[in-house]
Amino acid sequence: MLNEDGQGTIERSVFGSLADRELSLFVLRNASGCVLKVTNYGATVTELHVPDRLGQLADIVLGFQSLDEYVASQSYFGCIAGRVANRIRNGLFELDGKSYQLAQNDGPNHLHGGWKGFHRGIWSAQAKLLGNGPAVELKYVSKDGEEGYPGTLFTTVTYQLTNDAEFVVEMLAESDGPTIVNLAHHGYYNLAGHGSGSVLSQELRLNASEYTLADPDPGVTKPVAGSAFDFSEFKTIGRDLEQVGNRPLGYDHNFIVLGAPGELRQVAQARDPKSGRVMTLESDQPGVQFYCGSFLDGRDRGKGARYDQYSGFCLETQKFPYAINVPSWRNQVILRPGELYRHRMVHRFSVD
Ligand code: GLA
Repeated sequence: MLNEDGQGTIERSVFGSLADRELSLFVLRNASGCVLKVTNYGATVTELHVPDRLGQLADIVLGFQSLDEYVASQSYFGCIAGRVANRIRNGLFELDGKSYQLAQNDGPNHLHGGWKGFHRGIWSAQAKLLGNGPAVELKYVSKDGEEGYPGTLFTTVTYQLTNDAEFVVEMLAESDGPTIVNLAHHGYYNLAGHGSGSVLSQELRLNASEYTLADPDPGVTKPVAGSAFDFSEFKTIGRDLEQVGNRPLGYDHNFIVLGAPGELRQVAQARDPKSGRVMTLESDQPGVQFYCGSFLDGRDRGKGARYDQYSGFCLETQKFPYAINVPSWRNQVILRPGELYRHRMVHRFSVD
């Protein structure tokens, strides 16, 4: 299938089957030869090939070759996490005077939508003829009560590979009853190539001067200045790692993105000095969870590589973790009938 202006293509093939349903793999190619592969299992990006400074393509996202490996993994490679990404303390919240108990799949907490979050869903999918490059539109209906959430939620995610070497994610959702929503695209990046080992020597800059604390202090914000969390200038991901703390050691924190939520603005830039690949991320969300792959331990072996600790990093734009139980943040995640949840990410690839 060719897109309207003849630039870029989309092919569909079978990606295994689950519960008697056939899953698809879409291969999107843009005009300059970049490749994005997407399956409708969990709305998951399986591969993303972009050039280095010599024009050599490499697949820069962690992922698997087969459906069975996605089903077996707990790492959320390339998926959409939802209905609420990140953690909700004890899986408990109140909305309009009613209490809700969500699935507790991370110790006592609720993480990434529960046992059967959106990353485990079979989405409907359609190739799209968009002007500036191929796209796939994915839809998922999360029923009232699924994993404990109220309201049926209708979600549409569009992944596009533009002819300007951008990977664009657009997430939209509407509900038939009051609910809470916080979707995140959970891509793991390694700008030297997904199988190239550690990302600790890759450099990161974040458009943030504060970050938020996790349990037991959700709701507390801290300035980054003078700490290991200061990424206001480029530094390697590994430089201050020892001072981060956390078990396992590493960044797994929400940074408050400067500028107005709702407006597309720069969130982060990452670059690999060796290959020259640069990723610039823009989003309209208030926060970004920067996670440096600390839980990876070599058990996930994807696409011929072994993913040891720190072999990929995630920049998950989203609302703040724990928001529904923090009075001044809870409106971030509440969605009512007639309202539209919107979330846009632009990952722009270049070289230096
Ligand atoms: C998010 C969480 C991490 C971890 C990863 C996936 O970044 O904050 O704690 O769950 O996803 O392993």
